[in-house]
Amino acid sequence: MAAIILSLLVLSLSLFTVISSSSLPGLQILQAERQIDLTSHIVRVYLTLKVENIEDDPASTVLLAFPPAQFDRLALVKAAVTVGKKRKKSYVPLEVNPTEQPSSPNGTKYYAISLLKPLLKGETTTLEILYILTHSLEPFPVEISQSDSQLVYYHDSAIILSPYHIKQQATLVKTPSNKVESFTQVEPTHRSGNELRYGPFEDEHPYSYFPIIIHFENNNPFAVVEELEREIEVSHWGSVQVTEHYKLAHAGAKHKGVFSRVEYQSRPAASGVSSFKHLLAELPPRVHSVYYRDDIGNISSSRLRTSSKKSELLIEPRYPLFGGWKATFVIGYGVPLQDFLFESAAGARYLNYSFGCPLADTVVDKLTIKVVLPEGSQNPSVEVPFAIEQSLETKYSYLDVIGRTVVVLEKKNVVPEHNVPFQVHYKFNPIFMLAEPLMLAAAFFLFFITCVAYLHIDLSLRK
Ligand SMILES: *[C@@H]1O[C@H](CO)[C@@H](O)[C@H](O)[C@H]1NC(C)=O
Ligand SMILES: *[C@@H]1O[C@H](CO)[C@@H](O)[C@H](O)[C@H]1NC(C)=O
Ligand SMILES: *[C@@H]1O[C@H](CO)[C@@H](O)[C@H](O)[C@H]1NC(C)=O
Repeated sequence: MAAIILSLLVLSLSLFTVISSSSLPGLQILQAERQIDLTSHIVRVYLTLKVENIEDDPASTVLLAFPPAQFDRLALVKAAVTVGKKRKKSYVPLEVNPTEQPSSPNGTKYYAISLLKPLLKGETTTLEILYILTHSLEPFPVEISQSDSQLVYYHDSAIILSPYHIKQQATLVKTPSNKVESFTQVEPTHRSGNELRYGPFEDEHPYSYFPIIIHFENNNPFAVVEELEREIEVSHWGSVQVTEHYKLAHAGAKHKGVFSRVEYQSRPAASGVSSFKHLLAELPPRVHSVYYRDDIGNISSSRLRTSSKKSELLIEPRYPLFGGWKATFVIGYGVPLQDFLFESAAGARYLNYSFGCPLADTVVDKLTIKVVLPEGSQNPSVEVPFAIEQSLETKYSYLDVIGRTVVVLEKKNVVPEHNVPFQVHYKFNPIFMLAEPLMLAAAFFLFFITCVAYLHIDLSLRK
C-alpha cells in the first residue's frame, strides 16, 4: 500500500515537472532554417530547429507557435529528431500534439513536440519539422477569364513565430515559376528565379513577427474534394469492395465570362491554364471491376494502368474544371481479400487499408470512411496514426439477418500525407460464414415448397 502511494507521489511529482518545464521556455533556438514550398496548392513548410536548453530544469517538450489563422488551416504537423552524425544520420519520429499555454500573446496557438529524452542544461538537439497548410493561397484577382493565368497571395511572417529566442534564422520560399508579381521586402531579402530568401536574421526575440505577402502565379490544379465518402465492404467470400463518392471542386480563381471549347482545344498552352481536365487516382495493385460514373452514367474515358506495385486510374470528368466549377462522381473497384485482410490472435482478424484519398495532390475538406464488416463481426477496434472521429452504424443488405457492423471514421482537412495504412480489428465466428448459404438454401426451399403448394391447389381446383 505504502509502495503504491509512494509511486503515485513520484508519478505526480514527475508530471508536475513536465508541466512546469513546458510552461517555462527554458530553451533557445541556436539555428532555424525554414523552407516554404508554394509550388502546389497545398503549402508544405519544412523547418529545421537546433534547440538548446539554457536552464537548469531538464526540458522534455519543444513548442511550435502558430498565428491563429494559420493554426485553423493546419492539416498535419510532423516532427522527427536527427540522431547520429553525417553519413549515419537517421530520423526518429516524435509525438506532436496541440497544446494550450497559460499566456499566449496575440492568441498564438501551439503544438508541443515530445522529445525522446529530456534535454539537460547545455545540451542541444536538432528537430526536423513538416507542417502542411490547406486553403492558404488566396486567388487575386478573385475572378479570371479563360485566357488569364491564375495569381495568388500567400501571407506569412518573414521571422519565424516562436516562444523562444532565435539566434540565427533564414526562410526560403519556393514559387512554382519565376512569375512573382510582388513580394514584401525586408532587409535582407534576396530573389533569384523561383526562390525568395528572407534573412539571415540574428537574435530575434520571442514572438517576433514581420508580416509578408507574396503575390505570384500558380496554375496548378486547385483540386479540392469538398466531401468524400469511401465505403470499404469486407466479404469473407473473397473480396473487398470499395465505393467512393466524390464532390470535387476547383478552388482557384473563379471563372469569368463564357467558356469557349474551341479556344480551349485549339490553344491548350494559353487557354484555361489553371483549369484541369483529368486527375490521377492511385489504386491498389490487383484491382478488378473498376468503374467510374456520374449522375448521367458510366464515363468510359478513364484509363486504367496496373502494375505489380500499384494501379493508376486516369479519370476525366465530362468537362474541364475551371475555378468555382464542380463535378460529382463515383469510383468503384474490388480488390482481393487476401491482400488486405489478415489474421491476428485466435479468431481475430484485421483489415489493413489505406486512409486518405487516392487522388493525387488533392485536399479533402471532409472525409468519411465506412468500413462494412461481415455479418457477425464483433468488438471492432480501429488503429489510425492521427486523431479522427469514430462511431458505429448497422447496415442491412439482402440476406442479412442481424445486419453488418459499420465502423465510421471521419476526418476534416485531409492531404496526401494522410494516405497511410490504418487497421480495423474485429472478432469473427466462422459459423457466420454459413449464414448466407443457409439463408439462400432456406429461400430456395421456401420457393420450392410454395411452388409445390401452388401446383397442388391448382390441380385440386380443376378436379
Ligand atoms: C501582437 O501584439 C502586439 C501588441 O499587443 C503588436 O505590437 C504586434 O504587432 C502583434 N503581432 C501580431 C502578429 O499581430
Ligand atoms: C457501368 O460499368 C459497370 C462496370 O463496368 C457495369 O457493371 C455497369 O453495368 C455499367 N453501367 C451502365 C449504366 O452502363
Ligand atoms: C499494412 O500494409 C502496409 C502495406 O500496404 C504494410 O507496410 C504494413 O506493415 C501493414 N500493417 C499491418 C499492421 O499489417
